[in-house]
Amino acid sequence: MKIDNVTTTPFDDQRPGTSGLRKKVSVFRQPHYLENFIQSIFTVLEDREGATLILGGDGRYHNAAAIQVILRMAAANGIARVLVGRGGILSTPAASCVIRKHRAAGGIILSASHNPGGPQGDFGVKFNIANGGPAPESVTEAIYRNTREIREYRIAAHPPVPLEHPGTHALGAMTVEVIDPVADYAELMERLFDFDAIHALFNSGGFHMRFDALHAVTGPYAHAILEQRLGAPPGTVVHGTPLEDFGGGHPDPNLVYARELVDALFRTDAPDFGAASDGDGDRNMILGRRCFVTPSDSLAVLAANAHLIPGYRLGLRGVARSMPTSRAVDRVAAAHGIDCYETPTGWKFFGNLLDAGRVTLCGEESFGTGSDHVREKDGLWAVLFWLNLLALKREPVNKLLRNHWRAFGRDYYTRHDYEALAPEPAHAMLEELHKRLGELPGRRYGKRTVSFADDFAYTDPVDGSVSTGQGIRIRFDDDARIVFRLSGTGTEGATLRVYLERFEPDPAHHGRDPQRVLAGLIATAGEIARIQAHTGRTAPTVIT
Ligand code: G1P
Ligand code: ZN
Repeated sequence: MKIDNVTTTPFDDQRPGTSGLRKKVSVFRQPHYLENFIQSIFTVLEDREGATLILGGDGRYHNAAAIQVILRMAAANGIARVLVGRGGILSTPAASCVIRKHRAAGGIILSASHNPGGPQGDFGVKFNIANGGPAPESVTEAIYRNTREIREYRIAAHPPVPLEHPGTHALGAMTVEVIDPVADYAELMERLFDFDAIHALFNSGGFHMRFDALHAVTGPYAHAILEQRLGAPPGTVVHGTPLEDFGGGHPDPNLVYARELVDALFRTDAPDFGAASDGDGDRNMILGRRCFVTPSDSLAVLAANAHLIPGYRLGLRGVARSMPTSRAVDRVAAAHGIDCYETPTGWKFFGNLLDAGRVTLCGEESFGTGSDHVREKDGLWAVLFWLNLLALKREPVNKLLRNHWRAFGRDYYTRHDYEALAPEPAHAMLEELHKRLGELPGRRYGKRTVSFADDFAYTDPVDGSVSTGQGIRIRFDDDARIVFRLSGTGTEGATLRVYLERFEPDPAHHGRDPQRVLAGLIATAGEIARIQAHTGRTAPTVIT
């Protein structure tokens, strides 16, 4: 097999963000762009000679072409064996599961998660390490440094490897194994959850569910697990065929982009339970009949009930949430006497805590929940966890939630996003806020007085690494909280995220609309950060 050493020059925009390198498809299609980044991953990957690598993606546009390039580069870089999902498909949590099960040196996942796909859309490359989780910052920074210095990449000359059917192929000295993308993952789910109880729930006649795969990667997983193994009637899974452009939609399971599902759950003939997952299968949205469960509440409910689930019956070692996630899970942890960690935004910060056995469950407000079963957040896992709970409790989702709030209090919560802002004024706004942090405590806004303000910094308790500049936190005397940060995953301009929350202990006040309850705090956020003056915007583009 002929190996080419191709001369190249560095690109200056290949620093991985919150979740891998994410760019427009047109950027990735520039000559050498993908190759430079992939070579940088291989260069940084120690022990790559003879190693096993996992490869797959969410099926979006450019997935198939990129996989062939990566296979040829893997062969040229001395990788011994690559396991690829059939058709180039692997959800992010399934990739994590497969990396761990087959003791791979790492995995490359092709996805821009919930960002739109298609020729005009986004593409992305994520690198996961041997524990199955996203590469930590030390690794992503090393990859980035490599992309700044790269002069040459290695690629084998070879025709495309057929990926349509499971089987084994040789690419020079390297073996390519095409695997069923669902099998290992489904087997893991069956070990964690009581499939018999869920099967009985689906066959009780009184329970109906709708799962919206949003034409993204979870379609095949949901069909196989919910309909085929758990006996949910055909048609439970909708939009279950992955499409390269996600049918023109935005594969993000939230109140805005999964509107069709939300509407279905709020109709009079609504099913009992609704759920959706995102482009690459790691996010989840949970709905009951006429009821939306915020991801922060979902994490708290799962933590409070985990001991009822087979895979977690020994209890939780601890829990973790990203800083902007509401403090609902903290209340559960305190009641159960377990540790609760507050980490920066992004799943990679949970990896060390999970590896060290300090936490069992973790989650983010951005529709991400997971546990130590893999090292990624996991959409279908969260759905199965809820199904298992519903099968045991046999009560509607809204009742379960109300009971949870009665026991722990309710953290009213919302996130306001201002998307596609001009980057300069957006950064200027946060810099101004940053300069004023010292003068905020003691200031009065409406009924509230600021009690604390800082720029969140995190010291990893396992390896001592420090991450600064992770978002501005402002707390008030009634314990209400506002957080401001800029997105690290957007590909167009800057996105400001404003996270707002307020605690309500009294069950008599638990049934209100969060936007109303938080209206005063929302106004205060606009005032403190001078959002309109800086950005010209009078309202957010997305509210979740
Ligand atoms: C967003 C979410 C974050 C999540 C990430 C990847 O990042 O806020 O919680 O981990 O997507 O799914 P952001 O755009 O805010 O940097
Ligand atoms: Zn995702």
